[in-house]
Amino acid sequence: MIQLIRGFKDILPDETETWRHIEDTAIALFQSFGFKEIRLPIVEKAELFQRSIGELTDIVEKEMYTFAGSKEELITLRPEATASVVRSYIQQKLYAKEPIQKLYTIGPMFRRERPQKGRYRQFYQINAEVFGIASPYIDAQLIFMLWTFFERLKISGLTVQLNSLGCPACRPTFKAALSSFLASKTESLCKDCVRRQDKNPLRVLDCKVPSCQEAIGDAPSMTDYLCEDCAGHFNSVQSALKQQGIPFELTPRLVRGLDYYTRTAFEIQTNALGAQNAIAGGGRYDMLVKMLDGPEQPAIGFAIGLDRLAALVMQGHPQEELAPDIFIAALGEESREKTFEWSCALSVEGIRTEIDFSGKSLKALMKRANRINAANVLIVGTQEIEDSAIVLRNMVTKEQVTVPIEGMVNYIKKYLTTQNRVV
Ligand code: HAM
Repeated sequence: MIQLIRGFKDILPDETETWRHIEDTAIALFQSFGFKEIRLPIVEKAELFQRSIGELTDIVEKEMYTFAGSKEELITLRPEATASVVRSYIQQKLYAKEPIQKLYTIGPMFRRERPQKGRYRQFYQINAEVFGIASPYIDAQLIFMLWTFFERLKISGLTVQLNSLGCPACRPTFKAALSSFLASKTESLCKDCVRRQDKNPLRVLDCKVPSCQEAIGDAPSMTDYLCEDCAGHFNSVQSALKQQGIPFELTPRLVRGLDYYTRTAFEIQTNALGAQNAIAGGGRYDMLVKMLDGPEQPAIGFAIGLDRLAALVMQGHPQEELAPDIFIAALGEESREKTFEWSCALSVEGIRTEIDFSGKSLKALMKRANRINAANVLIVGTQEIEDSAIVLRNMVTKEQVTVPIEGMVNYIKKYLTTQNRVV
């Protein structure tokens, strides 16, 4: 038997309704905050991710699925969506029509990470990105929108972690301070961190290796180094969050494993999923559009991890089954023509209908109707058609009614409303 690849997974029918519910909830909410959908390719030039996420990040160094697109060109299965949205904003000149763009996109991402519960090599994200707004109110509004989204999904036990990563004016001083701090800890750092401690010391802060975590215990904090503008921005974000009643924790170690962030960075964590506890993360990336050869436009966004979120939603409430409203037990070859026609007509009317063409005995068909949790069974044999005495059996109350052949679809529709089945 050929099995799926390690780190990849199937999303089965008993999960997909939950996934769709999450997506629908996000779309309805995001649209009311002014977002529009954008759909982008899942492969891009490798260079796009190298330049945006950063050469010295785990994602770019170790986790990208990169292969030859042509002789000259390496292409990559996208490890995240922000870089692609920025690429499109620039390439399609979305800014020329209207610099302020609020875009969302939903789809698979690929990272060759070590697979474990809640961490996959193909995973799904719901992304929201805002271009063209520098105001701290938009930072707070995005976090408010995210918080409202989780509230709508009735998720509790969440914390918002908040930090500021400064800007090109203040970050270099912090980086220098961090590098010299790390120089005194070299012997406790892992191989990667030793390599990164000078060029990209921020990455040491989110290294998961326990000895590195220990070593950075007393490391300097970016928030102590913020310039006046960044400090002002950060304070305003916090005030606006308080105004909206969003609880948050200041988390000076939060640097988010991608290099493009400036100023506000945030993560939403849950206490209910074990080690992989981040269900959403995001932040500002005011330099990225320019860095990828676009105009100077501030931007901010986030991504929600759909796999982890679906697991969380299902922990509380297993998905409701999409059971048939009507199961047609067609008995005998002669009834097949009529029942086939009725089954099509019922489905067209929006009634969830299942018909069994197998020609098995009534007993066997009733067994299957039970197995798939059909609400009602329409029992149709040649004799029943001749006598115009088709039986509709309510599988819960076991009550039976006789259904007229003439106007059957309408009759069944009315009957279902008495069962509170929305048709
Ligand atoms: P990220 O923190 O790398 O950010 O990913 C966002 C979320 O995707 C995580 O919080 C997590 O829920 C989920 N996720 C990440 N990796 C995996 C994995 N291997 N398996 C399952 N779920 C995973 C970004 O990707 C940024 N592009 C977010 C952003 C948008 N920043 C600004 N705009």
